[in-house]
Amino acid sequence: MRKPIIAGNWKMNKTPDEAMALIGELKPLVADAKAEVVVCPPYACLAAAAQALAGSNIGLGAQNMDYHDSGAYTGEVSADMLKALGVEYVIIGHSERRQYYAETDATVNLKVKKALATGLVPILCVGEMLEEREQGITAEIVRMQTKLALLDVSAADVAKVVIAYEPVWAIGTGKTATSDDANDTIKTIRQAVRELYGDKAEEVRIQYGGSMNPKNVGELMAMSDIDGGLIGGASLKAEDFSKVVNY
Ligand code: PGA
Repeated sequence: MRKPIIAGNWKMNKTPDEAMALIGELKPLVADAKAEVVVCPPYACLAAAAQALAGSNIGLGAQNMDYHDSGAYTGEVSADMLKALGVEYVIIGHSERRQYYAETDATVNLKVKKALATGLVPILCVGEMLEEREQGITAEIVRMQTKLALLDVSAADVAKVVIAYEPVWAIGTGKTATSDDANDTIKTIRQAVRELYGDKAEEVRIQYGGSMNPKNVGELMAMSDIDGGLIGGASLKAEDFSKVVNY
């Protein structure tokens, strides 16, 4: 029922020329994908990427945005600007932004609402840190992050939101949650959405992210509640990313 969505988060990698080259390699490799495919290059590559992606089955995403309309916010990029570049998706609340750039549950919520109001699909990231997992509060953390991010999001809009469950200790470390663990936490997230929106929760796609790669994608995607992946490291090489996409 829920169409799987696999998104590549390139983080701070690739120049515009490199982005065009990677997309050029990727296009034929994922042309027959059954999943929805998205790449999220850095801001500086978005215009070049939009051009390179034209006519393909790959959607374009950004890695962040500001929640204000416009104005004196040096260094920031608005939702309207992204939209004008042909961007369709935007990662919001990635743990690297929460950790290094003071992103909070409140700013994440403002950004989710702004993205929806602008017609961008938010890819909302939630996930526990290692010490939270060790303290046994993974469920509390992801429930809280999910509910706060969705504050004042309408029932009509919630099905458009994609949630990425990314245990912070699994990002870029080569450590993945076991597929059972990931599936259980994703069920916990879906239950939190259900408490707010009832059966609409069944329509919300929830990805797993954190060292997902060609080797472990099959097992993760076979789980009942995992609807796709947010891929960092393995999205930087066309061959690896295409193997994940064509799991
Ligand atoms: P990773 O990153 O696949 O390199 O672990 C995932 C992410 O941060 O979205």
